[in-house]
Amino acid sequence: MALATDACTDGDRLRPVRPSSPTVAAAEARRRRPGAGVRRVTLVAAPLTLDLAGRQVATWAYNHTVPGPTLRVRAGEVLHAELTNRLAQPTTIHWHGIALRNDMDGAPGMTQAPVQPGGQFTYQFTVPDPGTYWFHPHVGLQLDRGLYAALLVDDPGEPGAYDQEAVIVLDDWTDGVGPSPEQLQAQLMAQGGMMSGGMGMMGRGASQPLGGAGGQIDYPLYLLNGRPPTDPPTIRARPGVRLRLRLVNAAAETAFRLALGGHRLTVTHSDGLPVSPVTADALVLGMGERYDALVTLGDGAYPLVALAEGKRGQALAVVRTGHGPTPSPDAHPAELDGQLLDLADLHADPQVALPERRPDRTHRVVLSGGMMDGRWTINGRTFDDTVPLPVRQGQRVRLLLINQSMMFHPVHLHGHSFQVQSTTRPGPRKDTVIVRPVRSFAVDLEADNPGQWMLHCHNLYHQQAGMMTTLSYVG
Ligand code: C2O
Ligand code: CU
Repeated sequence: MALATDACTDGDRLRPVRPSSPTVAAAEARRRRPGAGVRRVTLVAAPLTLDLAGRQVATWAYNHTVPGPTLRVRAGEVLHAELTNRLAQPTTIHWHGIALRNDMDGAPGMTQAPVQPGGQFTYQFTVPDPGTYWFHPHVGLQLDRGLYAALLVDDPGEPGAYDQEAVIVLDDWTDGVGPSPEQLQAQLMAQGGMMSGGMGMMGRGASQPLGGAGGQIDYPLYLLNGRPPTDPPTIRARPGVRLRLRLVNAAAETAFRLALGGHRLTVTHSDGLPVSPVTADALVLGMGERYDALVTLGDGAYPLVALAEGKRGQALAVVRTGHGPTPSPDAHPAELDGQLLDLADLHADPQVALPERRPDRTHRVVLSGGMMDGRWTINGRTFDDTVPLPVRQGQRVRLLLINQSMMFHPVHLHGHSFQVQSTTRPGPRKDTVIVRPVRSFAVDLEADNPGQWMLHCHNLYHQQAGMMTTLSYVG
C-alpha cells in the first residue's frame, strides 16, 4: 500500500495551527461577512436527570436539556461559545461539519487540551457556510450520553422556499436504561467484532441499504428530540404548509431510516450543503449525517418515523395539521418500504460543486477490523499508532475510501466538505458518508483549511477502538 513518502512525524500530529498565525487571521477574515456580528452563547455540560416517558434517567447534557439548545447563527458571523465543564471527566466540543479554524475544532490532545472538570473554554470562530450542523464532545464515550445539539447556520441571501421548519435530532439511548456506554464498550472489546447475543448486543439484523448488519448494539430506546416513541413530540402546522425538515443523526451506533407517513420527501441538502432537489419516500442517515428535506403537508396526523436500520425499534414524532388519531409508537408508514434515497441520486448544487480538477494527491483510506481482537483500523493501524495523511495547502486531494470489513462505516472528515466522486455527474458535497462493507469509492476535497484534522468512523465504538487518523497540513 502506497503511503506517501513525506509522511509527517508524530511531532506534526500534535502541532495545532497557531491562533495568532497570519494564515489563520487571513482565513478568518475571508470567512467573515462584512458587518457580521458575534453570537454569544454559554454551554454548560453537566449531569441531568432526564424524564423518558415518566422514567427518570441519570445522564449528561448541555444546559439541562436533551438535545442541548439549538444554536442559530448567520453564515459569516462569529460564534462565541463559552463552555463550562461540570462533568466528572474532561471534555471538548467538536463543531461537526463546520469548516472552522483548526484550533477551535475540539480534537482533544491535538487541537486543544481537554477542558478539565470545573474548567472553562471559549470557542470563538467564524462560521462560513449556511446549513444544518451539530455539535458534540470529542472525548471518550460522552456522545453516547445526552451531549449533543443542532447548530443551524442561516443564509442571509437564501430565498427560503419554505414556511416552517422542524429540527429533528435522532439518537440511540442506553444511558440509565440499559448497560452503560462503558459496559457496552467492554463487551464489544471482549467479544471482538463478532455478532453475538449478550446483554444489549445484536443477534441479528441485516440491512439492505447498509449492505449488512445494522450495528452491534441493540439499544433499549431510540429518541427523537430526546423523547421515546411512547411519548413522541408533536410538530404542529397548518395543512398546505411547506415544512423544512432538518434531520440530524446524533446516534453513537445506529443508522436510521426515516419517512413521513402520507408524504414524499424532497431532499434539498446533504450535510448542510445544497444538492439538486430529488424526491424519495425514505432516506437512511448514518451516524453524523444530516439531510434537509421539504414536504408540503396534508391535512391530518402523520407519523414521522425513524426506524433503527437493521435493529429492533424506532423513534417517532407526530406531524399534526388537523384531526385524526395519534399514530401508535410502532407506526410503520408504507413510505418506509418505498423508494429509498440512494447516494447516487444526489448531485451537488452547481453553487457548491467543486470545480473539476485532477487530484494532486491520492490517499487510500482502508477500513478494516471487527475481528477477534475488537480493534477497528484505518490503513491497518489504530489511532494511537496512526500515520497522518500528509497533504499540502492548495492541493486537490482524493481519498479512496476502501471498506475491507463486514460492517458499514460512516466516515467523517473534520474541517472540510468533500465531494463524492461518480463517473457521471458530480456527487454531493458531504462531510460524513456511509461506506458499505466490501465497497469503495473516492471523495475529493480542496486542502484549503490548514491544520490537523481528524478523519474517522462516526460509529463511536469503532472510533474508540481505533478507527481514526489525521489529515495533516500546515499553512
Ligand atoms: Cu461528529 Cu470527529 O466528529
Ligand atoms: Cu465504523
